[in-house]
Amino acid sequence: MVRAYAITAEAIAQERERVGDDLRNFDISRVIRMDKLELPEVGPGDVRLRILAVSAEHNVDHAALADTINIVEMRGGKIYPGNSAVAEVTEVGSNVKRFRPGQIVITHANGEPDAYGYPLRIWAYDQPESRGWYCEEAVVADWQLVAAPLECGLNLWEIAALPLRAPTAYHLWRRAEGIFRLKVSRERLARMNVLGFGGGVSELFLMLALAEGHRAFFCSGNPARRAHLEELGAEPIDQAAFNRFAARDDVRGFSRRVKELTEGVGMHIVCDMLRGNVFQAGVAALAREGVNVSAGWQLGQRLQYDSAGLSVKQITLDHIHLNTIEEAWAAAPLYGAVFRPSVHQEIYAFEDLPRAMQEMNQNTQTGIPIIRVAEQMPEAVRPLIEG
Ligand SMILES: NC(=O)c1ccc[n+]([C@@H]2O[C@H](COP(=O)([O-])OP(=O)(O)OC[C@H]3O[C@@H](n4cnc5c(N)ncnc54)[C@H](OP(=O)(O)O)[C@@H]3O)[C@@H](O)[C@H]2O)c1
Repeated sequence: MVRAYAITAEAIAQERERVGDDLRNFDISRVIRMDKLELPEVGPGDVRLRILAVSAEHNVDHAALADTINIVEMRGGKIYPGNSAVAEVTEVGSNVKRFRPGQIVITHANGEPDAYGYPLRIWAYDQPESRGWYCEEAVVADWQLVAAPLECGLNLWEIAALPLRAPTAYHLWRRAEGIFRLKVSRERLARMNVLGFGGGVSELFLMLALAEGHRAFFCSGNPARRAHLEELGAEPIDQAAFNRFAARDDVRGFSRRVKELTEGVGMHIVCDMLRGNVFQAGVAALAREGVNVSAGWQLGQRLQYDSAGLSVKQITLDHIHLNTIEEAWAAAPLYGAVFRPSVHQEIYAFEDLPRAMQEMNQNTQTGIPIIRVAEQMPEAVRPLIEG
């Protein structure tokens, strides 16, 4: 038996009742609870892992809040969440050739690829029978693992911030750039204006844009995160100065500011992982032929737009959901070289994971929240957490 966090439909119902279904008062830390889990035998294609560190992810938020769908109820009343981890391999099945005991690996969250590699379901979310990695140990099939790029120059906590967010950003960037390039060739416009709204995925998206020589603009209400992106070359925009787009005038003011910053052109690409009020601001900021790309719905899921207006400006809206497994492999060599994530200043203890989730939901952190699971770290990663 190992310790593992679980979310039950009963705990969600109790918390929803406590707050009278007002999600603003919902406390996620009351719903994600420490539990125990019996691990299966290691089969021929399986790998046994000791989890070293994990990042808090919003799909766990969505599962606990049951704000999109009640996935916990749909999965039979209980899930073991967590789909981003760094781990040590402790045992491999007889058919496993790619990994060996002692190796450090990262996970990906693609639970079941379709014919072209895109996820039909997400691991530890809607994939039936899947158990997540907010636990001390796990047994998973080897196709769910990627070798960790330990020599990339990032510390262990920074590496732990990336297994889910980096491949998502990588796919978002390929999609957005590909769509824009179908409309406007590099020959005609080499340097694009790229805007991202606050959040770890958007930050990584902007790092990809910067690495390819484009102008990047980071619109966030978080001073620590803006400072980090500015250091990397992005131009910061304080979202709070536009009242987080609460009213039409705020969106108009933001649109004017974007025009000033871009010599009247606007943004060729916008990454909006939040929707809600941010969506209107992102669309208003777009240049002609612009592309708005998203994998998120944190602030809202229903969009309204003027399709004639977007047609006339040749604007494309695109929605993605995670990435292919190949992209999880492709994103790993970019750790450190391109991806330099902002990590929240506190590294949470395993016992504090529910608090980390609640603080992420309240948006009070200075970067991506990381939870240290293993107290004893293997020799291979010790240099990455010392000094
Ligand atoms: N479907 C997929 O494939 C997929 C994959 C990854 C992520 N996602 C989704 O994408 C979203 C972002 O994920 P992430 O990992 O990038 O998040 P993150 O690093 O935790 O950042 C969340 C951001 O939300 C912003 N925020 C919170 N409340 C806000 C408000 N009221 N108004 C405006 N902004 C607000 C904050 O922006 P400030 O910096 O401005 O405070 C914060 O930076 C989540 O909903 C997640 O579920 C989807």
